[in-house]
Formats: sequence, C-alpha cells, structure tokens
Amino acid sequence: PAVGRPVVVLAEELSPATVDALGTDVEVRRCDGSDRAELLAALADADAVLIRSATSMDAEAIAAAPRLKVIARAGIGLDNVAVAEATAAGVLVVNAPTSNIVSAAEHAIALLLAVARNVAPADAALRAGRWQRARFTGVELSGKVLGIVGLGRIGSLVARRMAAFDMRVIAYDPYADAESAERAGVRLVPLDELLAHSDFITVHLPKTPETLGLIGAGAFAGMKPGVRIVNAARGGIVDEDALYAALLEGRVAGAGLDVFATEPCTASPLFALENVVATPHLGAGTAEAQEKAGTSVAASVLLALSGAPVPDA
Ligand code: MLT
Repeated sequence: PAVGRPVVVLAEELSPATVDALGTDVEVRRCDGSDRAELLAALADADAVLIRSATSMDAEAIAAAPRLKVIARAGIGLDNVAVAEATAAGVLVVNAPTSNIVSAAEHAIALLLAVARNVAPADAALRAGRWQRARFTGVELSGKVLGIVGLGRIGSLVARRMAAFDMRVIAYDPYADAESAERAGVRLVPLDELLAHSDFITVHLPKTPETLGLIGAGAFAGMKPGVRIVNAARGGIVDEDALYAALLEGRVAGAGLDVFATEPCTASPLFALENVVATPHLGAGTAEAQEKAGTSVAASVLLALSGAPVPDA
C-alpha cells in the first residue's frame, strides 16, 4: 500500500458501499468502537473516523486523536459526539441527516402495528405450540388519535403515512411551524393535551438535555389510560422505570421500543412484559438507509480530507 495515505478508521460495521465510496486514496482500518481501549488505540493515527451509534466520540476520544480532521456519523443523531470539543480541536463533524429518515419512520410504524396487534407475543406463543386467538385480540388504528412528539423530518413522515391509516394525527413540537403542520394534516397541541388525548404516542426527538426524561412519571400520569407508546428515537427520552410502572399499572397498554437508555441493552425488566415489543436499535437498519448513510458520509470525509468545503447534506 502507498505510504502516507490518510487513515480512515471504521469504528462500526458499515455497508460495503461505504468502503467502495472511500476508494483507494485512503487507508481504511477497522476497529470495534464499542471497545474503548481498541478505539483509543485506533484513533492515535486516524485522520478520519466513521461511526454509528455505538461509538462514543467524547472529549477523551477526541484528545486521543491528534491527527483527526473529521468525525463522520453514518446516520443522524450526534448525541454520541462531543461536537463542541471537536470544533474546538479543529475537527469537522459530519452526518447524513436524511439518509435513514424513511427507515426510521417505517420502523416506528412497524412497532406501532406490532403493539396494536400483539404480533410479537402471538408469534412467541404459536412457536411454543399455543394457538391462542382471543388472548391476542388487538385494537384498530383507524379513527384513533396518534400523538407525535417531535414533528421534524421523521415525525412528519410518520404523520403522512399514518394519515393513510385514517388516524387523527396531533403533534407536539415547540419548534414546528404551525402552517406546514396544518398542511400536512397535523394539529399542533401542547404536550399535556397530546398526552391526554392520544391513543398512540410515538416519539421522534433528538436526545438533548431538554428531551431526556421528557416522557417520565409526570407525563405518564397525564396520559389517556390504555395508551400505546413507541420510542424509536433515543433511549432515555421515555424514562424506562416510569414506563415499566405505567405498564404494570395498566395505564399504558403496550410499548414498542427500539432504543434504550444504555445500549447495548440485553436485560431489562421491560423484556419480561408480554405487551412490550423490543428491537435492538434497528430504526436505521435497512439496506437502503445503510447504503445512503455510508456513501453520503464517505463523500464528506473525502472532501474534508482534501481540504475542500463540505456542503450541508
Ligand atoms: C441515527 O441517529 O441515525 C441512528 O441512530 C442510526 C444508527 O443506528 O446508526
């Protein structure tokens, strides 16, 4: 291999298209970004690092990377990147903000339908030899109120799609523009109103100090009894202890969870409840989203390494 090529560290599993898009002018090295010692060692020579959600590019990781020019998040959320520290160190942070929005919206809808129709426990029962129909009686979505918490790119896609299921869609988003929401057939309401009126709630917020624990004990107390809730955004926005209590109490009839306060999460009291369906952070887990996210950030990395300006994605 040619000497002196910039070193690009792939800290997580990325699509083959990502590696193709990086080409041969850079040296691609792999490491397991969730293994802290391995990550810090790999960063020592890195000019660029590509991550998904399992790698924490915090202040310590940035300090361990003296040559680093760019951190590329093959996805949307930047909650695992210390953006201010990176900027102070002269490291560019890039992401792929539209790459996986359709996949994330579709996964939230998959969880919504799974929760409404008990798909996961019915499947488990049948595989265990039990043909139980009455036990898994569900509810229709048609005519029900869907409350979307966070009407950004993903929340808006969910709204449009669920209108086709004849759901009545309301949303809470202090940053959303009321006119465009109305054009999309969504009524913006205060959070307490959304909680009180929704039959289904789905969360589409970034994880920030403002959103962490937003759906906690107080929020559950204000929800319509029998509500079903989906979180395919970020763990911790829906407080897991408060959700567990609300499920036990019966106030919440079911939950679909793709994200957890601490990931990977392989043990949780929530997993013992039949009315919880859980997936391991699969919102962006489609061939299409991974290809788009990877190729988009690969292009940004090459631009950044060549010193060219990186346009907003
Ligand atoms: C995102 O923020 O885009 C997702 O967490 C994607 C991922 O799973 O990497």
